[in-house]
Amino acid sequence: MKRLVVVSNRLADPRKPTAGGLAIALGDSLKRTGGLWFGWSGAIAEPGLPGESALQVRQAGPVTLATVDLSAEDHATYYEGYANSVLWPVFHYRLDLADFDPDYVAGYRRVNRMFARKLLPLLRSDDLIWVHDYHLIPLASELRALGCRQRIGFFLHIPVPPPLIMAALPQNDWLIRSFFAYDLVGLQSEADVTHFTQYMVAEAGAEELSEQRLRAFGATLQVAAFPIGIDVREFQRLGRLPEAVETYESMRTEYSRRQLLLGIDRLDYSKGIPQRVRAFRELLERYPASRHSTTLVMIASPSRDAVHAYADLRRELERLCGAINGDYGDLEWMPLRYIHRMVSRRRVPGLCRIARVGLVTPLRDGMNLVAKEYVVSQDPEDPGVLVLSRFAGAAEQLKEALLVNPYDTQAMADAIQIALHLPLAERQWRHQRLMERISRHDVHWWRRSFLAALEGAPERPYEPPSSSANAP
Ligand code: G6P
Repeated sequence: MKRLVVVSNRLADPRKPTAGGLAIALGDSLKRTGGLWFGWSGAIAEPGLPGESALQVRQAGPVTLATVDLSAEDHATYYEGYANSVLWPVFHYRLDLADFDPDYVAGYRRVNRMFARKLLPLLRSDDLIWVHDYHLIPLASELRALGCRQRIGFFLHIPVPPPLIMAALPQNDWLIRSFFAYDLVGLQSEADVTHFTQYMVAEAGAEELSEQRLRAFGATLQVAAFPIGIDVREFQRLGRLPEAVETYESMRTEYSRRQLLLGIDRLDYSKGIPQRVRAFRELLERYPASRHSTTLVMIASPSRDAVHAYADLRRELERLCGAINGDYGDLEWMPLRYIHRMVSRRRVPGLCRIARVGLVTPLRDGMNLVAKEYVVSQDPEDPGVLVLSRFAGAAEQLKEALLVNPYDTQAMADAIQIALHLPLAERQWRHQRLMERISRHDVHWWRRSFLAALEGAPERPYEPPSSSANAP
């Protein structure tokens, strides 16, 4: 069997709670296969140290973790800059939040080139290389420039916007070209595959050889949807551990007279958190019986707080949450509990299980694995209801959730009201259907189907290494 080499910016540190579905999903996948996991250590090198930081290698069970620190400048230009102030907003349809600082792209290229250089000596000739997410789009072209001939697959965890939004990205031709150094590109949803293909054909002059194969820049690329899943059994096991059970019991005691609504996100503008708070306010306004009988628990873990848009969001949310509690709360009841801290992953199944309604209402999201975790945590005899944004990738699969438009405050308030009063038989029916889909397409299905497609991709013709990959 070929060794699996996973490359991602973020790795899961087994000693710390992890925010974000990518690191959790990759950790769950690699536990099965073993292999090498390469990426950023999460640390910023001490300023003033000469040269690049050394590779750190350690063993975590069957997985070898190989990481590098970033310099402060690389962190600012590659991670905070090009990845999270350019690609993240643009791919989430937020051109208005993008900061097209020309220094960012240089840092992005520098780190991708450095990753390629550090990774190359660790590779074996028959490795299967799987690169993840928007931080590392040009990694394959940098590896190819150094002579790497192994099969390389890429999975994009975030959405692909329509062609004209992509086209607004300065120097997008360079970025687009670098996709063609991969043998396979995996996307979260069919909508993403459509946008990606339309873009390649309309803007990059690609030829569509067949439904899933594109040819451009002298290379052939396979592209398909592989919706990411969760490790259902592992999550159910977490749900039986003492921390989850205690969380469930203590919340049940505390909220014995109320129904809980729950949101768990990274504090990110793509997650539609202010819109959700506004819809909750609308619920209290339109349906006075919901006052005193419901509480919204919102956990928004800190994320990328050095990036301006995130700091602005934090302020906006504090204001909105404070106003709701001030306007509607009284001595017996506070409508909303807002927690801007990371909550241990071990508590998540207990929190989800006690919540009558799970609110997963992003404005745009690649997939959103919290939606799947919420469903899996429910008691099948008395399940809660998932209210899901139609703009989350998960909505393509989870059709039995109550689908909402998060921009429509009134409709979302109505959907929450319906969710709170859905009859038991309908809740059970919806939950059963959702469970079937989530179990069938779990994280192991995702890994197996992507890797099978990558192994089956046609071999690339030999290209001599070049000293510099295509550059902006
Ligand atoms: C999203 C991205 C991941 C990222 C995660 C957490 O899920 O797709 O690539 O790792 O958010 O964000 P962070 O910036 O903390 O890695």
